[in-house]
Amino acid sequence: MDSRAIIDRLFTETAADREELRHLLSDEEEDTQEYLAQKAREVSRRTFGRQVYLRGLIEFSNYCKNDCKYCGIRRSNRNAERYRLTEEEILSCCEIGDKLGFRTFVLQSGEDPYYTDEKMADLIRKIKRRFPKNAVTLSIGEKERESYELYYRAGADRYLLRHETADEEHYRLLHPEEMSLKNRKRCLFDLKEIGYQVGCGIMVGSPYQTMEHILEDLFFMKELEPHMIGIGPFITQKDTPFSEFPDGSVKLTLKLLSILRLLFPKALLPATTALGTLDPMGREKGILAGANVLMPNLSPKDVRKKYALYDNKICTGDEAAECKRCLAARIEKIGYEIAETRGDYGESSHCI
Ligand code: 5AD
Ligand code: FES
Repeated sequence: MDSRAIIDRLFTETAADREELRHLLSDEEEDTQEYLAQKAREVSRRTFGRQVYLRGLIEFSNYCKNDCKYCGIRRSNRNAERYRLTEEEILSCCEIGDKLGFRTFVLQSGEDPYYTDEKMADLIRKIKRRFPKNAVTLSIGEKERESYELYYRAGADRYLLRHETADEEHYRLLHPEEMSLKNRKRCLFDLKEIGYQVGCGIMVGSPYQTMEHILEDLFFMKELEPHMIGIGPFITQKDTPFSEFPDGSVKLTLKLLSILRLLFPKALLPATTALGTLDPMGREKGILAGANVLMPNLSPKDVRKKYALYDNKICTGDEAAECKRCLAARIEKIGYEIAETRGDYGESSHCI
């Protein structure tokens, strides 16, 4: 099999079969990686030009009733210093973000029962009333369909819920017994049916992950047809049961970003903070591999270190304004610019 031919077919048909993707994933040649990134960039530029969308991330609570084995804010981690932002604090983050030009707020938290459905719906309504032009993205975990419907009616536009792995057995190795891939998938399909723009995703190099799992992930994504796909390398967190496992690979993450761009030409693909954590130029490399979204942190400075999903997370000592300036400079350096619009799925019909 010839990698270039596979990449060319991905480029023209946005399709590949399992054997082709397997071949591509196992081809470690620099040339292949470069050709793949080049084609992915071409697709990105055709769809989005050189525009990169910013999503302001507000990590509003690190309380979590879940116990995912990879995550630093899992309930069993007694060393995690817990915090919860008040509604006023969250609104003030939005105010700062809006002034900085962010047109999307991502509200992310652990699965924190304090924020009942009513409290969430109230908060969403308040944000939408005050910033009617802005999009609200939720990333608050697995809920009942009725809850998702309630938030949607309150004005939420998008929902991020990484599926983490599409393989049953692998899912069980990463999560506590009470969680299931079946429910995770149910959530994602419910969200889509309700009308959200939906994001799924995985950690690259999570413990026990094999190439076959990644292939399964790609086929699951083809089935779900998400609007967004968030992938970043797994990063060890010292207080978790996975503290002895190695970090995921930046190179494989970049390669997967390019493959995703070719498989999903219009998808919103973030160059994640995790990628920037393992490589000082990780986010830039992500953009050049086909990503088109950055998610700077909008959380108040004093809580940032506490939202420690993994070790050594970057940007925990910077104000939102500094991060915005820093990111703008970084992407200008590689020939891109920050988009002024909301960046909804299918919004841009950039032509060359
Ligand atoms: N390394 C990298 N990513 C992680 N996440 C959670 N823990 C880690 C870790 N140790 C990711 C998960 C989750 C998202 C919010 O953060 O994929 O869905
Ligand atoms: Fe946060 Fe550079 S992006 S400091």
